[in-house]
Amino acid sequence: MSGTPLLLPTSLKVPTSPSGRSGYQVYMETFGCQMNEYDTEIVRSLLKGRGFQFTPHDDEADVILFNTCAIRENAHNRVYGHLARYTNRKKERGLVIGVLGCMAQNLKQELMDTRSFIDVLVGPDGYRQLPDLLMDALEHHKRGLAVDLSEYETYAHIVPDRPDGINGWIAVMRGCDNFCSFCVVPYTRGRERSRDPEGIIQEANRLVSQGVRQITLLGQNVNSYRWGDWDFARLLVTVAEVSGIQRVRFMSPHPKDFPPALFEAVAEHPAICKTIHLPLQSANDRILERMGRCYTRREYLKLVEAIRKKGPIVLTTDLICGFCGETEEEFQDTYRLVQDVGYQAAFVFKYSERKHTIAARKYADDVPEQVKGYRTNQIVELQKEISLAKNKELIGTRVEVMLEGDSKKSEFQWMGHSDHNVTVVWPKDDLARQPGDLVPVMVLDASPSTLYGRV
Ligand code: SAH
Ligand code: SF4
Ligand code: F3S
Repeated sequence: MSGTPLLLPTSLKVPTSPSGRSGYQVYMETFGCQMNEYDTEIVRSLLKGRGFQFTPHDDEADVILFNTCAIRENAHNRVYGHLARYTNRKKERGLVIGVLGCMAQNLKQELMDTRSFIDVLVGPDGYRQLPDLLMDALEHHKRGLAVDLSEYETYAHIVPDRPDGINGWIAVMRGCDNFCSFCVVPYTRGRERSRDPEGIIQEANRLVSQGVRQITLLGQNVNSYRWGDWDFARLLVTVAEVSGIQRVRFMSPHPKDFPPALFEAVAEHPAICKTIHLPLQSANDRILERMGRCYTRREYLKLVEAIRKKGPIVLTTDLICGFCGETEEEFQDTYRLVQDVGYQAAFVFKYSERKHTIAARKYADDVPEQVKGYRTNQIVELQKEISLAKNKELIGTRVEVMLEGDSKKSEFQWMGHSDHNVTVVWPKDDLARQPGDLVPVMVLDASPSTLYGRV
């Protein structure tokens, strides 16, 4: 349009130094699970090491990065929606656009071929190549990709660049060898590999020195952690012993690798939160077999019983509704188990067929969308009732809450989480309190997701 001067291309605005370091501004958004959040911290560290700077304002960025998820089709669609925002801006000012993470790994060349505005595509094991690929794109307008999976990459010696705060996470293993038939993760994250425990303990100590009080140990299949004679239970207890840590959690374990030593550690160690996420997916044996989950309904229930015998450990779960061939009766098996077990929370998903997976190759995705939605809603509603009843049982009791900051709704209220990971909100009683303080809160009221109280 006449009269509106075009902005100069970025490479003219911010020249690089002869050492190949850049002064370019990066704006980054992260989708998906906590592992992706952790990877974003790794990417920030790698890019800052080469002189890139990060900005929270996309309008002043030279580089736009999306760290993406591929777990369900709507995860892909969200990314396409966000990418669309930048295509015009790219034409106007020569932005460099990079897609990282699981969706990049999942679609690879196909994504480059169909979306010409993407300059750089990097999968979860390729982040060390990202600075060079971005420089090539910025300075020489070259498109590039790094989507080889590695059997060794754990980014063990990269110090993550994390935001301040009392919560920190450490990826202790990466990848997944389980190949549940519905799941794309083994294809986007590659083979299982664990990190040296020494590096993990060092990272835990460093987090504490930065003010972290609660650490979450992460892995796609965290309880398959193995390093020599270290297993996950030993690692968990060792991290819980690090001085200054008040709470340790872990995500996501698989029910098939749950030795008694692990739930005993959860039940007994004061710094390990008394909560276990135990993804069920389905409670019907034929569907479990088709999903390749390696346990039966009976085995899962035996594990729940053994865990509960050890003490008041709260359970949460993941469920998939409408998997290939799931009949109404088979769905009802899952519904009844959710009723019987009484989870604190359940994350319920409509089955979404993923390219390359065993289910996509072997079974028809034959449950109609409407039925999937209906079943999902039924369990969501059931779980709401159960969560509400469980939270109401806490009215009149005292819970210990780790203060995190102002509540989302009011600056006159504090917000934190109980040991059982339930959100707790209470009026500010003492302004001298700090994030990380453990505060005893009397519960006065409850909703399915939040406890309301006073000190
Ligand atoms: N490693 C974890 C799961 C990670 S994915 C585990 O084994 O439990 C998180 C959740 O997404 C899964 O537990 C499952 O409930 C859901 N999920 C994975 N693939 C899916 C798909 N194709 N369709 C719908 N939900 C899916
Ligand atoms: Fe996916 Fe199964 Fe691995 Fe979990 S354990 S990441 S559901 S393949
Ligand atoms: Fe998504 Fe990859 Fe995590 S597919 S759930 S970002 S491991």
